[in-house]
Amino acid sequence: MKGIILSGGLGKRLYPATFGISKQLLTVFNKPMIYYSLSSLMLADIKDILLITTPEDINNYKRLLGNGSRIGIKIKYKIQKKPRGIGEAFLLGSNFIGKDDVCLILGDNIFYGDGFIKLMKDSKKIVKSQNKSVIFTFPVKNPSDYGIAKFKKNKLISIIEKPSNPKSNDAVVGLYFYPNSVIQISKKIKPSKRGELEITDINQNFLKLKKLEVKKMGRGYAWFDAGTEEGLSEVSQLIKSIESRMGYKIGCLEEIAFIKKWITKTKIKRIINKYPESNYSKYLLNLLK
Ligand code: G1P
Repeated sequence: MKGIILSGGLGKRLYPATFGISKQLLTVFNKPMIYYSLSSLMLADIKDILLITTPEDINNYKRLLGNGSRIGIKIKYKIQKKPRGIGEAFLLGSNFIGKDDVCLILGDNIFYGDGFIKLMKDSKKIVKSQNKSVIFTFPVKNPSDYGIAKFKKNKLISIIEKPSNPKSNDAVVGLYFYPNSVIQISKKIKPSKRGELEITDINQNFLKLKKLEVKKMGRGYAWFDAGTEEGLSEVSQLIKSIESRMGYKIGCLEEIAFIKKWITKTKIKRIINKYPESNYSKYLLNLLK
């Protein structure tokens, strides 16, 4: 399965913080925001990744992550010239996806929780064995800001993008697993009123075909949309609290790659030697002991 991180957009809700830099490069506690979505893919053993971003920001991402070999994965890059919607990711990424299945994560979505890795791995299996898409919902207080799922007797019946009159508070999170047919479906859908190829329209298509499975994330998981002032500050606080109290890091790419044996000690040492004064490097040094 291939992975796509969509890291574009203007970050309008965070102006002026995002005036000079891509939202997904802002710091979440002590790491760039993009580390968290990238770590989610890595934890699901997705190692072939396309990062889609804006013409202005692409070089910053390349400087930060390179071709991925530093963390034992492959990263390719693609430009999204204008924010034409999440659905455009599959058109921009169609050559990259090739004949594979694909998992898309939004660069500002941050997940945490004990069962998260299993949830991701199970979803990969569903796509492969049943040729179905898998999406997730999470209860929110501000449903009008999200794609909202409507259930009848626990069965998903529709998804509405940013409803003014929401029928539930189950938001569809920015993590999606699709079979290869998502490329064809993306070619079919038309831009919405706001001029975007909506991920919700893609999901509605899979729903009509009875090829959409929805899993509810609830207690035991944390999901943040770090693209708002509150989200960014809340998730930074949460990560700070967990890391300070527990002593382990969340979203430490080198640690994940090392535990999975995708990189050796030598690569980690190289990073430590480059930035020995940072707490991040001190943590990596400890890991090698
Ligand atoms: C997008 C999707 C929406 C989804 C949300 C998750 O919203 O359109 O369906 O619930 O991501 O973060 P946007 O970030 O474009 O407001």
